[in-house]
Amino acid sequence: MHKDFEKIKSAYQGTKSEIIPILQDIQSRYGYLPEEVMEEVSGFVGVSKSEVFGVATFYSQFRFTPQGRKHVMVCKGTACHVSGADKIMEGIERHLQIKEGEVTFDMEYSLESVGCLGCCALAPCAMVNGEIKSNISLKDVKRLFKRKN
Ligand code: FES
Repeated sequence: MHKDFEKIKSAYQGTKSEIIPILQDIQSRYGYLPEEVMEEVSGFVGVSKSEVFGVATFYSQFRFTPQGRKHVMVCKGTACHVSGADKIMEGIERHLQIKEGEVTFDMEYSLESVGCLGCCALAPCAMVNGEIKSNISLKDVKRLFKRKN
């Protein structure tokens, strides 16, 4: 049993209606929903593991992979798309040697795509730990996303 899940559990009764707040607590503790903790949730609230996963996958707020120390969200909204967001994403994937939805081996970067970040005039853009990187070109990728090795 995960020690942290023990703590999270103590605030709940173990009923089915508590699944979402429990998952929210787990995600804020771990940064994502680890599979083995999901199994423990299933036992705790008395529903099958697939049902717990079903609830979690329904809500886009939940993640199933860990985040890197720097979480990169590449905008694929319309303005960024027409400004070459796909090429930027490919360039970042090549540079970081991960695919969208993955995390680098050293846990430094994780990568995902998102809808409009709300700064279309600065397209194409991305957000790194809440900070906007604007007018990104392929040439910027190495500088913006430095690797340790
Ligand atoms: S489409 Fe990328 S910021 Fe709006």
